[in-house]
Amino acid sequence: MRLVLVGPPASGKGTQAAILTVRLGVPKISTGDMLRQARAARTELGLAAEGFMNAGLLVPDDVVIGLVSERLEQADAQSGFILDGFPRTVVQAEALEALLARRGTPLDVVVQIDVSSDLLLERATLRRTDKRTGQIYHLKYTPPPPDADLEHRKDDQEDTVRKRLDEYDAMTAALLPHYQALGLLKRIDGVGKPEQVTERMLQVLRVAGS
Ligand code: AP5
Repeated sequence: MRLVLVGPPASGKGTQAAILTVRLGVPKISTGDMLRQARAARTELGLAAEGFMNAGLLVPDDVVIGLVSERLEQADAQSGFILDGFPRTVVQAEALEALLARRGTPLDVVVQIDVSSDLLLERATLRRTDKRTGQIYHLKYTPPPPDADLEHRKDDQEDTVRKRLDEYDAMTAALLPHYQALGLLKRIDGVGKPEQVTERMLQVLRVAGS
């Protein structure tokens, strides 16, 4: 399965990718996680990305395209993958298509997760991540255990979340007609318990795979 998850900030892409990687047995590739790791390690790439990320802006296309191209070369990504947060612009989508066409392994499906803006703000600002395990929690909906070592993402402050939502509308929403035209786009309702959203996702994937 070669799957792309698209959706606004905090729509649940990372939560669903973590579940689906186990259910489908293919790696999840999150550009947000890769960029945060690079930032934490103070690599050249991480330092170049930091200002954009902290401001709630997209990192330049060439940076993320290079990152994903290298990742897709790795052995575990040859039999499938779940892309979480990439592509985010039509330029990124076209680069991905070109890369997969060279391999003769086109995308199977792009799933858009729909969640209303007011819920997105609440989901982002109350998100916490366990630094040790990477597990994503929510203080209201999926509370962390007492021994979790929690991190509050810098870009989850309300002002920055609003900026990220604007950036999604300005840059990433254009992907939807692109994938619609290619016949790859499916939409699911991202509201409900995470396991309910997973069931909707699996239903769409079954249809796409049949
Ligand atoms: P990235 O990390 O990709 O951020 P994002 O797309 O804004 O997505 P999030 O990680 O905020 O949310 P999510 O949809 O994964 O939701 P989650 O599952 O965590 O990117 C960060 C930055 O990196 C970007 O701003 C940009 O600067 C840069 N970047 C990354 N990729 C790039 C690219 N391709 N091009 C350019 N720049 C790029 O869930 C959110 C919360 O909701 C959690 O608390 C969770 O527990 C909760 N939740 C999840 N599902 C449910 C549910 N069903 N019910 C209740 N709560 C739920």
